[in-house]
Amino acid sequence: MSREFQGTGSDALDGLLGGGLSPGILTQVYGEPASGKSTICVMASVACLRAGKRVLFLDSEGFSAERFQQIAGQEALELARNLFLFEPEDFSQQAAMIKNMDSLLREGPGLLVVDSLTGLYRSQLERGRDAMQRLTGQVLVLLGYARRYGIPVLLSNQVYMDPEKGTFVGLGGTALEHLSKVIVRLERRNRVRRATLVKHRSKPPGEFFDFEITLEGLHPCPRSQGQDKETI
Ligand SMILES: Nc1ncnc2c1ncn2[C@@H]1O[C@H](COP(=O)(O)OP(=O)(O)OP(=O)(O)O)[C@@H](O)[C@H]1O
Ligand SMILES: [Mg+2]
Repeated sequence: MSREFQGTGSDALDGLLGGGLSPGILTQVYGEPASGKSTICVMASVACLRAGKRVLFLDSEGFSAERFQQIAGQEALELARNLFLFEPEDFSQQAAMIKNMDSLLREGPGLLVVDSLTGLYRSQLERGRDAMQRLTGQVLVLLGYARRYGIPVLLSNQVYMDPEKGTFVGLGGTALEHLSKVIVRLERRNRVRRATLVKHRSKPPGEFFDFEITLEGLHPCPRSQGQDKETI
């Protein structure tokens, strides 16, 4: 069982995370559409595959093989051999697929990615009041895997506009916020995106870096790191 950080493929993001993705916990990245969530999920997967480990990737929006190929480059086909894809069509199927990951993890743990955790939850919300409870149930199963197998779990989360705060807030409520031990917020300002640390177990919140999305993934803007005093 490995206790080492798992690199994300981006030095800037690894630095923000305090070394990379931590095993045994849930790391959450949330942000508005096109802010870079999937890019980060695919980059981290490629980095893990390059390290010779397997990746379980649940994609609720349909996995883009083209984007994987762009980020993985020439090795894409070879790396994809250790990539286990799950593409649920609804929230119940997502729950079933998460439960079924256990046997694969038992055979060989690596990195578990869920992109996005809340896409199908969002449509479920309109249908049933128990959606939040069911989401928390799924998150607890994922947390169980992180702990039992000592693996990093990376979750992306969608947002809604909170009219009171006037900002985008991650879906899933306080349970998801509480269960994610590291949280990064992504914001988009034209071409430039900003990744800000919102929550961490051993670093103060507010550290950020700016980046652009490129063919190979994310590219940090020069001299664009800092500390945001507004982030609590
Ligand atoms: N090869 C590329 N070169 C440059 N930019 C790209 C490339 N591929 C995708 N992008 C840009 O990346 C952005 C999408 O990023 P990404 O898919 O990571 O966002 P996301 O946060 O997952 O969005 P969503 O919430 O819609 O899933 C878009 O602005 C797109 O134009
Ligand atoms: Mg996405």
